[in-house]
Amino acid sequence: EKGGYPSFMEKEINDQPQAVGDTLLGRSDAEGRLTLDELRIDPEELKSINKIMVLACGTSAYAGQVAKYAIEHWCRIPVEVELSHEFRYRDPIVDGNTLIVAISQSGETMDTLMAVRYAKEQGAKVLAICNTNGSTIPRESDAVLYTHAGPEIAVASTKAFLAQITAAYLLGLYLAQLRGDKFQGEIKDLLTDLAKVPAKIQQVLDNSGQIKELAEMMADTKSVLFLGRHVGFPVAMEGALKLKELAYIHAEGFAAGELKHGPIALIEEGQPVFVVVPSPRGRDSLHAKVVSNIQEIRARGAKTIVIAEEGDDAVKAYAEYVFYVPETPTLLAPLLTTVPLQIFACALATAKGFDVDQPRNLAKSVTVE
Ligand code: F6R
Repeated sequence: EKGGYPSFMEKEINDQPQAVGDTLLGRSDAEGRLTLDELRIDPEELKSINKIMVLACGTSAYAGQVAKYAIEHWCRIPVEVELSHEFRYRDPIVDGNTLIVAISQSGETMDTLMAVRYAKEQGAKVLAICNTNGSTIPRESDAVLYTHAGPEIAVASTKAFLAQITAAYLLGLYLAQLRGDKFQGEIKDLLTDLAKVPAKIQQVLDNSGQIKELAEMMADTKSVLFLGRHVGFPVAMEGALKLKELAYIHAEGFAAGELKHGPIALIEEGQPVFVVVPSPRGRDSLHAKVVSNIQEIRARGAKTIVIAEEGDDAVKAYAEYVFYVPETPTLLAPLLTTVPLQIFACALATAKGFDVDQPRNLAKSVTVE
């Protein structure tokens, strides 16, 4: 049942090309138009949405943060992302023109379910992104977009996370499509790029030997920091969460731009820091900014471990280790840059002798508030 892997987690990390591919399957036609009829929500109603709020917990909330960058850019609709358990205790502003997107692998997370019920009472429309057919959250939602990652057994979420991000991209592109034909060319190109992602994830998996070796060498590490910017920020947060959950190591993720506002004080000789570097082909000066962040922490003794895009030779000079992922549009990069971080956490926890499928104190679905 573990498909020849020593743990469900390793199997599920290796299932990711399929999880993403299956989530894309059958959702667009030959002309590159998205066909999300399964949503069962009136397209006219979706057109009148003037705000999206993503509600989720843990890893699923990081998928929501990636969704925010993509949906705001493609659709020009404001997107807020909030932890489900914070949402309903602060008198949030939602109404009939708000679309709530509840993201949950299990569909049973009590915090998210209660947030969904609250939002519905306020008149909002609720769309669930969920991996578990017929579970409670999709049953109580107005619409559902299923992720097709297959059952996720390991407590720490991996393939469901990539599938959630994929589904959120589909939703964003669908909303962009509803809002006007002028985007159709761009949407088609992005769907073509998305279709290439599973093979690229496979490439990352095939080249994971080095990151596993690094994880084994770092088995005695006491603290690891993760930096990212733009969509690399939620990826950094997810990398830190995986390491906490699996290896019980203190780990923290930061937005790279926030470094100088405090966290840089943590940097001392030998501190390992992962940096998720945006594509040098991307917009603005994001890449240059992150490279200068790497220089700043390195000058203070940090051991820098860099995740960068293939061909980005500029980062080599500033990194102890560089792991390259294939080229892809900036907004889609989390589907690739997350994978080495998952592999790192899994390998480090394994090197410490921990059970990666059943980390201490955690349950697969959190059905209490
Ligand atoms: C982390 C993890 C948790 C879940 C969170 C939400 O690896 O698995 O943080 O992501 O408990 O669970 P779902 O998505 O089932 O609502």
